[in-house]
Amino acid sequence: MKDFGIYYNEESQVFLLNTNGISYAMACSGGYLGHLYIGPGLSDFPSKDVLREGDYTYLKGNPGDKCVFMDGFPFEYSSGGIGDFRVSPLNVRNEKGFLGAELKVKGYEIYDGKKKLPGLPSTFGNENDTKSLDIILEDEALKLTVILSYSIFEGLDCVARSVRIKNDSEENIYLERALSSCLELPYRGHEVITLHGSWAREHIPERRTIGHGRVAISSDRGISSHQAHPFMALVSPETTETQGEAIGLSFVYSGNFMAEVERTQHDRLRVVMGISVHDFDWCLAPGKIFQTPEVLVVYSSDGLGKMSRTFHDIFRNHLIRSKYLHKERPVLINNWEATYFDFDMDKLLEIAAQAKQAGIEMLVMDDGWFRKRDSDDSSLGDWTVNKAKLPLGLTGLCEKINNIGLDMGIWFEPEMISPDSNLYREHPDWALAIPGRDASECRNQFVLDITRSEVRDYVYECVASVLRETNIKYIKWDMNRPLTDVGSLVTRGGEIHHRYMLGVYELMERLVSEFPDLLLENCSSGGGRFDPGMLYYSPQVWCSDDTDAMERLYIQEGTALIYPPSSIGAHVSICPNHIVGRTVDFRTRGYVALAGTFGYELDIRAISDEEKEIIKEQVSDYKKYNHLVREGDYFRIISSDNLTGKKSEENSLAWMFVSKEKDEALLTYIQERGNANKRSETVRLQGLIKDARYRLEDGREYQGDELMNIGFTVDKLYGDGAGRLYHFSKI
Ligand code: DGJ
Repeated sequence: MKDFGIYYNEESQVFLLNTNGISYAMACSGGYLGHLYIGPGLSDFPSKDVLREGDYTYLKGNPGDKCVFMDGFPFEYSSGGIGDFRVSPLNVRNEKGFLGAELKVKGYEIYDGKKKLPGLPSTFGNENDTKSLDIILEDEALKLTVILSYSIFEGLDCVARSVRIKNDSEENIYLERALSSCLELPYRGHEVITLHGSWAREHIPERRTIGHGRVAISSDRGISSHQAHPFMALVSPETTETQGEAIGLSFVYSGNFMAEVERTQHDRLRVVMGISVHDFDWCLAPGKIFQTPEVLVVYSSDGLGKMSRTFHDIFRNHLIRSKYLHKERPVLINNWEATYFDFDMDKLLEIAAQAKQAGIEMLVMDDGWFRKRDSDDSSLGDWTVNKAKLPLGLTGLCEKINNIGLDMGIWFEPEMISPDSNLYREHPDWALAIPGRDASECRNQFVLDITRSEVRDYVYECVASVLRETNIKYIKWDMNRPLTDVGSLVTRGGEIHHRYMLGVYELMERLVSEFPDLLLENCSSGGGRFDPGMLYYSPQVWCSDDTDAMERLYIQEGTALIYPPSSIGAHVSICPNHIVGRTVDFRTRGYVALAGTFGYELDIRAISDEEKEIIKEQVSDYKKYNHLVREGDYFRIISSDNLTGKKSEENSLAWMFVSKEKDEALLTYIQERGNANKRSETVRLQGLIKDARYRLEDGREYQGDELMNIGFTVDKLYGDGAGRLYHFSKI
């Protein structure tokens, strides 16, 4: 196989991108760019046979047959309006309203490293570990340039793609659809896996077959959303955790998105992903550029497990920038489920004091600390402290918390404005609204017009001044409603959604630049904006408002299908659980939270002394094992039926973290329901060294291949939601 690199064969006009494990190939034919291949690594340039040039007489100069060509050629990036009737990644209109762009290759550039995408979150890489390719396409009639960018990263089977569109004409050009990627694949019985959900029920995998026509997912809510997720995987019917083809696409963006796979009349698959076409209509003035966000395409021929681990490494090595990425995060306690809005300084200090005794390291003060916020019906936008609750202000409170020995964190919802707020009374036009129509007060609040720079400046100063004036070290950036009534006084309709996201990204960029030591956690009513875009700014995202450990098994498993567990906000909360009413063993709640960022979300004053002692054990487990969760490889040992698409007999979930050196591993086993007269389970471990010997903390020893082939027989557990942690060290 060719070494890691990007190659071009002048003679055959074939582009070949080789990571260490996979190849991605494209070729020019009659000036058009066609897709040849994505899959296991090739040893040399492939032929162009799969372009089926011979099928298209148009390529030999017969203009009458252009329609057959246009609707059949495996375009690398195609456009609607030119006779390609498959789902298109690009729809462009000229001033007269005519649709279509016929793109032909004009040049290319191969270089080391990777360019930033202006204003957008994107993967990064340096000149030693990353190679990039820009292919320049042009529509001569429109004078439109489309640059397809590709990057590959040493050691990772992933291709990052994005598109830059430039108007070189004298007239406006209108983009009705400008997606980030388009893939042409042979259909071999593929199935598609997506993540669906709802509030408190995020990221649930769903696997389905692909019939003729289209499978489409999207979010038009202005956030990546609880309901759909900017991810799609195409898998072979036989793909499991450990074998079979899996092609995963993840969109590095936090707003509206769409992903579609079409099974065509000729049994091929076309897969597109990018910003949703809903309410998207971009006026590209002469000389202007539109930059799409990035799509990451991961290929695995070793099943879904390998696909997940590749995404985790891409995000950890090439997307998340926070200095906390490789650091143990402070064990925090958040007062939301403990007090909701009903707190004051004394209550917080009592919680802090007891938390300190249990080994907790940070107190996060959630919603309700500002102006007259005693419920969710007022004060968003008025970010001044409520002195009735916090008489010493934020500085005084923070000092007191610090004196107890804890760091302090705080909650903000910067993008919002309550109708009952001074800010709204002063600047009603700062809220997104369509004149003449009642805007919807979802959760009693409006969305600020973040497309306006004066609004962004106001919001930024509110947040930044708190950080400048206090010793607060953590911010939970919340966002609790979708965008409706998307109208602005200054921004053109059709452009607001994307300009809103660019505004949010600008705010976050300013924040992490001015406060590089800040630990930023994103949140959107739980996991409504858990996406790669947010991870560029914050190393962790609150995963779900459902903190019930049994529900979290599925929510966290779905999230970890793509995202590193160290980015998954997970807390131990009180039982009966506030969302589902279930009671789960306190230790098991800890095992589940340990597979994420780990922390607490309960009134520590109200729990038993025995539970306080368990917190001490859990904090000590976190200190012992967090490096494995943070830096190691994640294996689903018993995964949910949602991923395999098959109903299993199993009544448990199990996962493992294995250090990169394979000298340490942590197995978590959770029995969902207690069973009568069943034998304890033997689970086959993964990721160990076959001929190495591993010792459990209780002294039992096993050979790696025994653990992986015969399996490890877990203890017989009693009760619903019982669990165990097993830590293996290589001898
Ligand atoms: C939604 C979040 O997901 C919760 O954790 C909490 O911060 C509330 N918002 C506060 O309004």
